[in-house]
Amino acid sequence: MFPTTLLTTLLLALSVAANPVLVDRSPVTLPISRRLNLTSVHNLVRHDQNRAKALKLKGSSKGLGSRAVVNEAVDNQAVTYVASVGVGSPATTYSLLIDTGSSNTWVGAGKAYVKTSTSTQTSNRVSVTYGSGSFSGTEFTDTVTLASGLVISKQSIGVASTSTGFDGVDGILGIGPVDLTVDTLSPATSSSIPTVTDNLFSNGVISAHSIGISFEPTTVEDTVNGEITWGGTDSSKFTGSITFIPITSTSPASEFWGINQSVRYGASTSILATTAGIVDTGTTLVLLATNGFNKYKTATGGVLDNNTGLLRITSTQFSNLQSLFFVAGGATFELTANAQLFPRSLNTDIGGVASSIYLIVNDLGSNSGEGLDFINGYTFLERFYSVFDTANKRVGFATTPFTTATTN
Ligand SMILES: *[C@@H]1O[C@H](CO)[C@@H](O)[C@H](O)[C@H]1NC(C)=O
Ligand SMILES: *[C@@H]1O[C@H](CO)[C@@H](O)[C@H](O)[C@H]1NC(C)=O
Ligand SMILES: *[C@@H]1O[C@H](CO)[C@@H](O)[C@H](O)[C@H]1NC(C)=O
Repeated sequence: MFPTTLLTTLLLALSVAANPVLVDRSPVTLPISRRLNLTSVHNLVRHDQNRAKALKLKGSSKGLGSRAVVNEAVDNQAVTYVASVGVGSPATTYSLLIDTGSSNTWVGAGKAYVKTSTSTQTSNRVSVTYGSGSFSGTEFTDTVTLASGLVISKQSIGVASTSTGFDGVDGILGIGPVDLTVDTLSPATSSSIPTVTDNLFSNGVISAHSIGISFEPTTVEDTVNGEITWGGTDSSKFTGSITFIPITSTSPASEFWGINQSVRYGASTSILATTAGIVDTGTTLVLLATNGFNKYKTATGGVLDNNTGLLRITSTQFSNLQSLFFVAGGATFELTANAQLFPRSLNTDIGGVASSIYLIVNDLGSNSGEGLDFINGYTFLERFYSVFDTANKRVGFATTPFTTATTN
């Protein structure tokens, strides 16, 4: 264990060094900001569980695709990760959610779409239903500018005429697998709509059909704490080598960035035997199938907190908290005790008590065996660098300077 002050100094130094100084480098990176809007009790957990339900339904209902109906109240995003994306020429800048769990890119939820000479309306309507909202509108093609040097002409985008659940953002930058766009157009076509990543690759703007994502744990409400790299990885953001894990063949996880993984608590307590689940930037927590979550709850001694919906542990239980190990692709990824905590400085933002200790591992809302039994969400991804490799149908993880940081 490092003395806390030394570690704090080290972390401060790291976070300064890691600030997104956008030097000229290829592949190109786009900074991501995190925003919290945790206004209602249970918002965070409910949002994530609704999303999990919607993703399972969507992945399982080929042919129904995005029109699958989820009968759940709509929640605004509790925690959002947004990037500034330009559309049109001259470009209007929109704040778009970064979503690896959906693949349509659209604008118009907040700021209205501004047409320019590069905007061309198609004859299609486009609509997508998410666990936490929906949008429908018109398809356009337009110039999309992700960053300097990362420009796509004639990108298909949705322009929302109605949207629910997206207060505070302008739309979504969908970076999931392209098949998720099937059935989002009407009149219906069986073809998919190339994503921004697909077009960057097919236009030769990037030389590898893959994305790298870095998030860093932070304890403040709104901050720039991540970046996406198109066409490669940013070696300044991870340590050691990247372990690649093939996309699982198990449906519905296989429709997303899905992998096989087992989960263990401490030295030997099995939480989930090897099973399929997904890696998702649009989910804040780490969600485990109910039977696995119950084992975790027993192992940690946590109780469900009525105000936040999170597991709450005592300080004695925290000092005994063991690491949670995620085994995938022949490697083991350790979520330390500190990494399992919700950042304590933000407790009151989620309706919690400042002095309490809450855990970020929660209940997926259904038992294992349904082909999507866990979600490694943002709270996992801020401890591990992630790679979404379309070309080789695999997901990669690597440790970062923050994997074992004690920021929470
Ligand atoms: C925050 O959430 C509330 C309730 O869900 C919503 O009314 C408000 O517009 C949101 N604000 C921002 C900035 O997202
Ligand atoms: C994942 O698990 C399933 C079910 O056990 C198995 O059929 C499959 O071969 C595993 N690996 C991949 C890459 O899907
Ligand atoms: C938890 O909250 C719900 C809704 O506010 C309330 O009905 C219930 O009595 C609460 N349970 C406990 C144990 O406080």
